Amino acid sequence: MAFPKGFLWGGATAANQYEGGWDADGKGDSLCDHMRGGDVNTPRQIDEFFDPEALYPSWEATDFYGHYEEDIALFAEMGWNVFRMSINWTRLFPTGEEAEPLAAGVEFYDKVFDCLKAHGIEPLVTLSHYETPYSLVSKYNAWADRRCIDFFCTYSQFCLDRWHDKVKYWLTFNEVNTGMPFMNNALSTSLVQHYTGNTANAPRDNKLCFNALHHQFLAGAKTVKYAHDHYPEVMMGNMTAFITTYPLTCDPADLLAAQYKLQDADWYASDVQVRGAYPYYAKRLWKDYGAEPDILPGDEEILAEGCVDFFTYSYYMSMTITTHDDGEEMAGNMSLGGKNPYLKASDWGWQIDPQGLRWTINEVASRYNNIPQMVVENGFGAFDEVVVEDGVEKIHDPYRSDYLKAHAAALSDAIDDGANVIGYTWWGPIDVVSAGTGEMRKRYGFIYVDKHDDGSGDMHRARKDSFFEYQKIIADSRK
Ligand code: BG6
Repeated sequence: MAFPKGFLWGGATAANQYEGGWDADGKGDSLCDHMRGGDVNTPRQIDEFFDPEALYPSWEATDFYGHYEEDIALFAEMGWNVFRMSINWTRLFPTGEEAEPLAAGVEFYDKVFDCLKAHGIEPLVTLSHYETPYSLVSKYNAWADRRCIDFFCTYSQFCLDRWHDKVKYWLTFNEVNTGMPFMNNALSTSLVQHYTGNTANAPRDNKLCFNALHHQFLAGAKTVKYAHDHYPEVMMGNMTAFITTYPLTCDPADLLAAQYKLQDADWYASDVQVRGAYPYYAKRLWKDYGAEPDILPGDEEILAEGCVDFFTYSYYMSMTITTHDDGEEMAGNMSLGGKNPYLKASDWGWQIDPQGLRWTINEVASRYNNIPQMVVENGFGAFDEVVVEDGVEKIHDPYRSDYLKAHAAALSDAIDDGANVIGYTWWGPIDVVSAGTGEMRKRYGFIYVDKHDDGSGDMHRARKDSFFEYQKIIADSRK
């Protein structure tokens, strides 16, 4: 495998799934702090008021807050030079409406960035990874209300002012496209409900969905412009959940269906952020869903001035689509699609398709003039078993190593095809709470954390076999 010099290797996390310390030092509660755990058949419930009997997995998560030094040292041991994390908006601005941030929150991220620097690891920071302040959710229906744009910009501009010299790579909204009206699965249902004020059982209000997205596009574009105006040395990126979709058959109707699915699910949000304008097919899409966003005078200029510098996305699997009724359904955490008879799947039914990653990278490259791109989430959620051998805890996870090797090879092939891929961050390199199900037993990590679904566990860390596999891939790529 061949990788360019300086290629960024690392892992990706989100504060709501990893950080813990949910109310430490005055931190406010964010949307995810109100979500209970679920499982593959039970959607996560969002409680307006906390139930003292219930367990909220984000509260403690896997405690990066208390373990960041130990964890970062382990990341460095794997050879990383990048670490994707999110800043927890409510650790700085507890309700989202304060004018000044909490000193304790600022100090925490100061320490994290300094620790990363000491280990030669570049932070890649997501400004919003489902951590909208709950106060904005209950007071304004969150992103359904335009006022959230300004609240977000106060926060994002503070972050850039404070950390522009410590953080070069920034992402605005994680998987912003998951707020699309048709994203129809456990997590997206909960999120859309809260982005838009829809109740869980009410039919989706498509107008609110498109507006909530439009407001996030505007908040993102304003943040990108602010960074470009003040700190030209930083790189600003989008983040799309890439739902790679193939036609199930060669019936031309299936080909067209796949084209529409890609436009609706992936390109719509990506095009706005990369090209600075709604694409031509937005009209068709809005017509299909019977609603369109309220685009006010001045909005188009804001979008045009906030184009991102690099393109990032998550890629876990691919799906199929067909106009025939002979397909079998499969589900990711955000979207539904059809099964592909040529692929195997994980324990959670996510289909394993490394060639689909190569295809996706090439599609992004050709659509956006070979913009620098980074795969900022890719990974394999599985049940792990801890065994003790000669008094030492071991986790043998060949399934994870196989997935990693196959996707690293696809990455290398795509680079060989000519694509400008600058980095790769594995999702959940240390065990974190699953976003879709809220489970701990759906583990992605190279590093095991002793934390379980019932809240038990002492949080100690242990290296899995895949830890050494990733270490080797990184070291070999630098030879
Ligand atoms: C992405 C999210 O959708 O997929 C992450 O950005 C999430 O937050 C990841 O954890 C894996 O999904 P899940 O549902 O298995 O945790």
